[in-house]
Amino acid sequence: MFPAMRVLGIESSCDETAAALYGDAGLEADVVHSQTDLHAEHGGVVPELASRDHIRRVTPLVETVLARAGIAPTDLDGVAYTAGPGLVGALLVGATVGRGLAWALDRPAVGVHHMEGHLLAPLLEPDPPSFPFVALLVSGGHTLLAEVRGVGEYRLLGASVDDAAGEAFDKTAKIMGLGYPGGPALAALAAEGRPGVFRLPRPMTDRPGLDFSFSGLKTRVRLELEALGEDRQARADLARAFEEAVAETLAIKAARALEQTGLGTLVVAGGVSANARLRATLDTRIAEGGGRVYYPRPAFCTDNAAMIAYAGWCRLAAGQTEAAAITVHPRWSLEALPAV
Ligand code: KG4
Ligand code: ZN
Repeated sequence: MFPAMRVLGIESSCDETAAALYGDAGLEADVVHSQTDLHAEHGGVVPELASRDHIRRVTPLVETVLARAGIAPTDLDGVAYTAGPGLVGALLVGATVGRGLAWALDRPAVGVHHMEGHLLAPLLEPDPPSFPFVALLVSGGHTLLAEVRGVGEYRLLGASVDDAAGEAFDKTAKIMGLGYPGGPALAALAAEGRPGVFRLPRPMTDRPGLDFSFSGLKTRVRLELEALGEDRQARADLARAFEEAVAETLAIKAARALEQTGLGTLVVAGGVSANARLRATLDTRIAEGGGRVYYPRPAFCTDNAAMIAYAGWCRLAAGQTEAAAITVHPRWSLEALPAV
């Protein structure tokens, strides 16, 4: 039997500050503060502004989740914080607060891999997937396929050789003069677009392998755009073609990963997994092969602390802790993690 465990999770790897509580009874509370407005006028995340805002937000957010769950800090059994990958200054804020709190309370703490958090987020849903499965992680910083045998048992199958899928959305949105963050803005414009007007490539799908390349798509969009001027319908058609190209490329590779591993369950997570067209495309293609797709709820696709509290809970409940040092990993391989 595992000991009773109630874990505080803290997320501060990029432009969201978040805190959550996960215990043996499930998710008890979670809060997120997005810095979108702070970075919007700069057209992207400014690392130093991000770090400073995390400092302002993190303690009040921790106090809010504790108050929502009606508990005191001494009721915590452990603390989990995102230790990487991410912006070093941003990571250090959550890591310092998490480690400091754990030390003051004399509780164990664990640094969580942000992408492991995303990967496990669908397990917070009422009808969770069971191991083993293939994970397709599509966020602003990473795009990868991994075979998942259990918590911490990850085998990388493929990854983007250049831009991540979210990064491709953000950069293309910028080229099209849309707001930041680009993903949701581009998706909104694409919803007005007609299918089949533009045809963009599905990069790297005509050769074997599970790697991705998205940087060429934004160049194609830039070239097409030059001929369009301000024609709103044509711009919407182009946005739709871009979204379809990304969605189909991801779906082709995800189906191939299931085929290669012989698995029937696909788990999709990370910010881009909120995209409705991607979900529809994946659902259809994976069902055609007899498989099933699982997603987190939309709020847990993008950055949140519920996934960090949960990943930390899995590790702390299994007795995994680390020495009381504040260490972050701006770059960090999923395959370096220990199994639980
Ligand atoms: O997972 P996430 O919140 O942060 C990282 O770990 O990077 O992912 C953020 C990314 C951004 O690139 C954002 O534009 C993209 O997810 N995104 C979307 C949508 N919502 C967020 N991309 C396409 N469609 C969406 N609806
Ligand atoms: Zn993320």
